[in-house]
Amino acid sequence: MARFWHVFTVRNLLVVSLAINASFILRLGYETIDIKREQLLTGKRAQGEALPTQRAHLPVSTTSSPSSTPFPGGDRDRVINLDHGDPTMYERFWQQVGEKATIVIPGWQSMSYFSDIGNLCWFLEPEFARQVLRLHKIVGNAVTEDRHIVVGTGSTQLFQAVLYALAPPDAEEPVSVVSAAPYYSSYPAITESLKSGLYRWEGDALSFSKEGQFIELVTSPNNPDGYVRGSVLNKSGGVLVHDFAYYWPQYTPITYPADYDIMLFTVSKTTGHAGMRIGWALVKDREIAKRMVKYIELNSIGVSKDSQLRAARFSKLFLTAANLPAIQQSPFLSLPITS
Ligand SMILES: Cc1ncc(COP(=O)(O)O)c(C=O)c1O
Repeated sequence: MARFWHVFTVRNLLVVSLAINASFILRLGYETIDIKREQLLTGKRAQGEALPTQRAHLPVSTTSSPSSTPFPGGDRDRVINLDHGDPTMYERFWQQVGEKATIVIPGWQSMSYFSDIGNLCWFLEPEFARQVLRLHKIVGNAVTEDRHIVVGTGSTQLFQAVLYALAPPDAEEPVSVVSAAPYYSSYPAITESLKSGLYRWEGDALSFSKEGQFIELVTSPNNPDGYVRGSVLNKSGGVLVHDFAYYWPQYTPITYPADYDIMLFTVSKTTGHAGMRIGWALVKDREIAKRMVKYIELNSIGVSKDSQLRAARFSKLFLTAANLPAIQQSPFLSLPITS
């Protein structure tokens, strides 16, 4: 089994995770994506598309029963069904954490819309904000000084909030949104979903030659190929949005604290709790952060407090339960719980 882990490296884990999420998006029912999916399934893989829905014959156990031996030989015939799109591969870890990850929220708590009335992001739970800062400080993957934290219903809502925040409301032309192919397959679908006059999906950043304002999405490590990436457009008029969903030590070595103007993160990939729907943005510019908050106010009048409280607990446990140098060397799912 040690040999298996040698072969099934962190990079493999990332690719599996990326494929899971990409295939989930493919199942959301967008007609165009379904057409592309058909092409993918018949072998005509388009540039910019993520991996197709598939069955991977990997010897990974299912998540229903915890076990102290991660991958007993009996699991050899089990498969990961990439149809679902859930990071349930993390379940074993949280089963091992056990009661410490359980929180009780009394009926009278979390009732108000407001979490922190004096904060620019008034629906940000202070305890969640504290754990976000602590997490970045210990992991060392992002600079948090002089940044505003904006919490969102997943990184998906934050992405939409960023588009809203960056698009000048009075511009004559919609701002172009691009990303170097292959890119995360839901970027085009989300950008185009409202047929907004504020922004427009323009596809592959590598072949983007239009004049005018643009937003470049930089995903690192990238979904779907797992590569560490930087911006590819070297011209004026652009704003970079860094999607750091996977810039965590269980996916890639953390080589420097990212120090960009707009950085997106998500609990879905950090702790594996995609169902809590919590993400956060670190934003340098106050006005941009304010507009993002405005969008979330209009879209959902804030973000679930209950989810933020759970996310705070999990973020805290992620570091106390797992040993950081060890996570950098092996998938953190296989680690014993040390506290
Ligand atoms: C690169 C990337 N960004 C964002 C997301 C969406 O994250 P969330 O679950 O927080 O909406 C995903 C999900 O697969 C992703 O792969």
